[in-house]
Amino acid sequence: MSQSIQNIRGFGDVLPEEAPGWQFVESVFRRELTRYGYDEIRLPIVEKTELFARSIGEVTDIVEKEMYTFTDRNGDSLTLRPEGTAGCVRAAIQRGLLHNARPRLWYAGPMFRHERPQKGRYRQFHQVGAEAFGLEGPDLDAEMILLSGRILTGLGLSNLRLELNNLGTSAARASYRDALVTHLQSHASRLDADAQRRLESNPLRVLDSKNPAMRQVIEAAPDLLDYLDEASRAHFEALRGMLDAAGQPYTINSRLVRGLDYYGGTVFEWVSDELGAQGTVLAGGRYDTLVEMIGGKPTPAIGFAAGIERLVALVEAAASAPMAAAPHAYMVVEDPEDIQQAIALAERLRNGLPALRLQVHMGGGSLKSQLRRADRSGAAFAIIRGSDEIAAGEASIKDLRGDAAQRRVRIDALEDTLSPLCAQ
Ligand code: HAM
Repeated sequence: MSQSIQNIRGFGDVLPEEAPGWQFVESVFRRELTRYGYDEIRLPIVEKTELFARSIGEVTDIVEKEMYTFTDRNGDSLTLRPEGTAGCVRAAIQRGLLHNARPRLWYAGPMFRHERPQKGRYRQFHQVGAEAFGLEGPDLDAEMILLSGRILTGLGLSNLRLELNNLGTSAARASYRDALVTHLQSHASRLDADAQRRLESNPLRVLDSKNPAMRQVIEAAPDLLDYLDEASRAHFEALRGMLDAAGQPYTINSRLVRGLDYYGGTVFEWVSDELGAQGTVLAGGRYDTLVEMIGGKPTPAIGFAAGIERLVALVEAAASAPMAAAPHAYMVVEDPEDIQQAIALAERLRNGLPALRLQVHMGGGSLKSQLRRADRSGAAFAIIRGSDEIAAGEASIKDLRGDAAQRRVRIDALEDTLSPLCAQ
């Protein structure tokens, strides 16, 4: 036997027993996004490399070292999308969705980053994202944050922390950047290699360092919020007022900078303490200059994306997802010759009872072994078509979970008998 082929590291399978958790998470997103007026958009997984380089930023970790980039047969440089915002903005501009309109869009699907895989961090992972265009006020920021909170509550997750910051205008960030670089340079001997490198390219990202040896230097760094311009300060105040009025708690984290260059102004993250180092489950912020940067008319925008693997892990731990749906009934046939009739009967029952989950035993075997399979399927009842039953135009109904006595039912009365059973 030749050696079996394994999956690629960091590219997971969602196994059948995990799928209900995924469906639950996806359905709550879809329901709540729709309630807030977001429309679904489906986007390609591959885009031109330039799109990501221009929008996420040339000197970000994602673009520098995490993208799956390849040259296709035409010689074009293409990239598996590492996130959804860039493609969504590209489509919104290209398809004219921003003309005299303020679309609110959501999307879901796989994203790809060549990161070091660990718990909660994969190379293929899944996001649900939402983007809203054309409005610059803090009211939209507040609503989007409240929407994300409602989704998380809808998933049964209550132990999450909302962290909030404002990155200001690019001018404010530039003056903060200078102050930060001066501070970091004065502690140059205490910077790790990563920070040394970022000091040149993207100093704000040094604030994101998880290295405990860097903590003191980071804590002593100047505060971004002290460098905010007047308009950003007022925006932030107004947003906080709206969140307070809606009863939404948050913590201000002035070290929250996010890893993508398109952000400016409001940024936020929902964080769990139950996932170890990879605790951010949903994150986003304003990107008012991105549309223009990739060729559209200036259009303010804000969005977020959630990591589905991380949310499914939390939902499983909280046991808030519904279990996989076992069949209501499992049909067994004593004589393999009778399978044709059994299939026809099962189709008739499915026609008459749209809620019925019915599995027909296939592959033969003794009645005893078939009933063992019925039991293992998790079905509540077995429908037995033994030779006796067939001769009498009947079926036996056997309770597999409770102790109701086995009974015989006429074939033409089966729908009536099964109807109350498939109400659950
Ligand atoms: P992001 O922070 O890079 O933002 O990713 C959003 C979420 O995706 C993270 O909080 C995390 O839950 C999940 N995630 C990211 N990388 C991985 C990974 N390697 N494995 C598992 N989960 C992961 C964005 O992607 C922005 N596009 C969000 C946004 C939309 N901002 C505005 N609009």
